[in-house]
Amino acid sequence: MDSDRWWKNTMIYQIYPRSYYDTTGNGIGDLVGIISKLDYIKEMGFETIWFSPFFDSPQADFGYDVSDYYQAAPEYGTQDDIFLLIEEVHKRNLKVVFDLVLNHTSDQHSWFLESRSGLDNPRRDWYIWRDGKGKKAPNNWKALPGGSGWHYDKTTDQWYYASFLPFQPDLNFRNSQVKKAMLDMVKFWLDKGVDGFRLDIFHSVFKDEKFRINPPSRHFLPHNDEAGFFQEYKYTVNQPETLAFAREIRELIMSYRPERFLLGEIFASDEVKRDYLGQNQDGLNLVFLWDLPDARVTATDLRKVIEKYETNFQDPYLPVYVLGNHDRKRVLSRVGGNINLAKLLAVLIFTVRGIPVTYYGEEIGMMEGNSPIKTCLDPVGQRYKNVPSFLLNALDLYVNRDGCRTPMQWDPGKNAGFSETDGKLWMPLASNYLEQNVEKLESNSGSILSLYKDLLRLRKSSPVLITGDLKLLETPADVLAYEREIPGEKIGIFLNFSESNKCIELKGSVDRILNSIHPDEIISDKIYLPPYGFAVIQYK
Ligand code: GLC
Repeated sequence: MDSDRWWKNTMIYQIYPRSYYDTTGNGIGDLVGIISKLDYIKEMGFETIWFSPFFDSPQADFGYDVSDYYQAAPEYGTQDDIFLLIEEVHKRNLKVVFDLVLNHTSDQHSWFLESRSGLDNPRRDWYIWRDGKGKKAPNNWKALPGGSGWHYDKTTDQWYYASFLPFQPDLNFRNSQVKKAMLDMVKFWLDKGVDGFRLDIFHSVFKDEKFRINPPSRHFLPHNDEAGFFQEYKYTVNQPETLAFAREIRELIMSYRPERFLLGEIFASDEVKRDYLGQNQDGLNLVFLWDLPDARVTATDLRKVIEKYETNFQDPYLPVYVLGNHDRKRVLSRVGGNINLAKLLAVLIFTVRGIPVTYYGEEIGMMEGNSPIKTCLDPVGQRYKNVPSFLLNALDLYVNRDGCRTPMQWDPGKNAGFSETDGKLWMPLASNYLEQNVEKLESNSGSILSLYKDLLRLRKSSPVLITGDLKLLETPADVLAYEREIPGEKIGIFLNFSESNKCIELKGSVDRILNSIHPDEIISDKIYLPPYGFAVIQYK
């Protein structure tokens, strides 16, 4: 593997800085805290760390509302701490990925304060301002979390547009000064050594220049972010200019060595996602795929996901395998607390062809916290607080994101070892911390944490798991199986998603067992998988 293209075989760990480790005793995680835990991440075997935003921000959306792209939020540290973080990550031979919120700023960013101050302000055009239609919004464009995307501002009797929440006004990337200011900021961090960027709601960056109205849709529930609330987002997402912008940023990062990379948060069909990557691989390097975190955890449905990823993102494209993130229900809660299923999913993401991304806490089986929607901190949840929970559950709408953002569970002691504070944590702990914490799981060779370490080690040492072709196998019901192959080497992966024993006849004979739940139960050309058992084998 070309070492310059390290991002093609990396394994990514996502940190939500507010919840990782608090060293100042204020109940909020911080940058020095993250630095003190880098060895933990290194020892697990991850190679790249993506940090959700820690930039200065009023924290109305916990950092996805940036008020200064060059400074750290004071509760997280200083700009020097950011530099130190980059240095300390690199010292350990790991890569740093920042979260880049290009689409919008906070409404407290000085640019927006200036922009909204008057029609003649030089920064007026830095955001998207329009006259209303009488007393109504300029057009029918909806925000992604629902409601109109337009917000009336009485100072100038005009409306500004926000793809997400009202306090996150969209920048106007058609203004060349805006584009320059943002790309200068990107260069600043590239020059400081940042190895890649996760691009926040990148599909929204450009909106239709003519402000044409979005057509109706039969989808009420948000559908892939391409439609929702009975509207097709035809003119508000995935515009041709956004695709061109992807290529422009790629061109910028291509002048840096070793290579840097762009990982886009895109909601679109696989075809459009491929367009973002570019036919000549000259767009974004990678895009998130959401079929896996949306799928039911059964052999049949997971097989369909792999099939879809393999069909639509064939080599040289690379699928990205995520189980969760800071916007989604914790994977262990999604599978009803069944740790065996969480383990099988871990085996899956580290043995398929693609880039695995792990959200902090998945490696220790963290569950959803219990934050009632009525009092939740998440601004999206607050919008839905009057909708009865049973309805949200019935519609399978995850709108209160507090639950997946609880503090990291380091040990069974005070505050789960996350903070020394005697006061309140910014977010209460999830209740399973006494059992599921780093200290406890580290000393247990059968734990999910030990499995993660084994899988990371296995993947790192097996070129076939990184570059090998993937072939799905025919199996008994409830078993998912596939092979990975490069010339001269073949590995088989067998996962039993059921509560019964399964026997699988192999088409070749086993040379070595690389990992399994019951290593003794593999005899020559047959595999006996216990309930929720798995085996990763090397063929002769
Ligand atoms: C992305 C982020 C989410 C944030 C939103 C607005 O979807 O992942 O956490 O609230 O964008 O920036």
